[in-house]
Amino acid sequence: MESSVRAPAEQVSVGQEPSVGDDSDFEVFDDAVAGDARDPYPELALARSAHPVQRLDVSNMPHDQAQPVFFVYRYDDVLDVLRDGETFSSAHIIELIMGDVMGKHIILGMDNPEHRRYRALVSTAFRRSAFARWEAELVVPVANELVDRFAGRGRAELVREFTFPYPTKVTAGLLGLPGEDYRQFQRWSIAILSVIGKRDQAIAASAEMREYLAWVLGERRREPREDLISELAHAELDGERLTDEEIFSFLRLLLPAGVETTYRSTGNLLFSLLSRPGQLDAVRADRSLVPQAIEEALRFETPLLNITRLAVRDTVLSGVPIPAGSTVMLMLAAANRDETRWPDAERFDILRDPKVHISFGQGPHVCLGMHLARIEMRVALNLLLDRLPDLRLDPDGGDPYIRGQVFRSPTSLPVLFG
Ligand code: HEM
Repeated sequence: MESSVRAPAEQVSVGQEPSVGDDSDFEVFDDAVAGDARDPYPELALARSAHPVQRLDVSNMPHDQAQPVFFVYRYDDVLDVLRDGETFSSAHIIELIMGDVMGKHIILGMDNPEHRRYRALVSTAFRRSAFARWEAELVVPVANELVDRFAGRGRAELVREFTFPYPTKVTAGLLGLPGEDYRQFQRWSIAILSVIGKRDQAIAASAEMREYLAWVLGERRREPREDLISELAHAELDGERLTDEEIFSFLRLLLPAGVETTYRSTGNLLFSLLSRPGQLDAVRADRSLVPQAIEEALRFETPLLNITRLAVRDTVLSGVPIPAGSTVMLMLAAANRDETRWPDAERFDILRDPKVHISFGQGPHVCLGMHLARIEMRVALNLLLDRLPDLRLDPDGGDPYIRGQVFRSPTSLPVLFG
């Protein structure tokens, strides 16, 4: 790969890549996993009340056709499963689905004691003090740079021009990648994220990205900088360090874990407010409502609708026996609208009594990047409201809607302003 022999250049920052986030990138992005469901929620509500822990004996899971699958719909049950990593394992499943693309050391697919050690090591790079610096030096400039491109135009399509390129660019900046390599990084990201539809391409992109990251890692080992790769290269716990392969796996995981989710959640936040002008006006008038708007958007339209575990011993969940070897599908989207926890749960209401949602998971694998995701969403919303006066949906912009049943985000966000 050409880039692997190049000397390190400037880090990704602002204003260097005029073509970031153009339409062609978005069109290439294979949305197959999202599915075209416009509103899966009525069906999820029915399931939640009819059979909160539902057993299905015909399995489509790749690992074992003979074992039953259990779908879990209620908030408390989902929480119980996520908190009990001894009974409900994260291993096996992810390896089968993503192992050949993401590498062997995927934190999401580890159980203890491996998970505890690995998480403690990578967490040092995600400490609180790092977030404040990332916000000021990276997230705000990236968001501003994207808005600069359309702020004078009076109209924009915020998915293609803003929410889609935004987290990839933030992540490239976190890694401290050389500016001119961003474009290639984005292509790999798209290929890796399209794994379900185009597995071979994803595997090839993953191998290329590994080779490239090996070069960056070598540079950072020699000459550390203030970026995530340098942090990971030098993270130490009880005299132990991460191996190179562990670092590559973590860096690649940031694409599905950090880029795809945040791209979708930022779109969901913007769509939820833009399609309810009263609530958008409330936020515009009182910015202290922004954090509530973010949490409500995450609850109401979680970007990732379900996660999986494997029961490794016989157990019982809300009275339903679950034999060892069963796959357990945790329906985050259904749990987030559990009416026993949120009155009028099917309504988007930024003024409701805030209660923790399940969109970032819970327990030992709770999202490591949730503070960064919240920062990205907060910066995006504040900046768009600051810089685009009278921001509103374009009434002639077709019929945008949030779609998907594995991942969800808006089809488009055509807006007018000024
Ligand atoms: C709104 C955006 C996001 C959502 C909804 C989200 C959601 C989640 C969920 C549900 C999990 C738990 C998965 C499980 O238990 O199997 C998770 C884990 C994780 N997330 Fe996020 N995430 C988001 C943003 C981010 C960002 C920005 C990063 C990093 C830059 C990130 C990094 C991770 C990592 C590394 C894990 C694995 C933690 C572990 O296995 O111990 N996420 N995320």
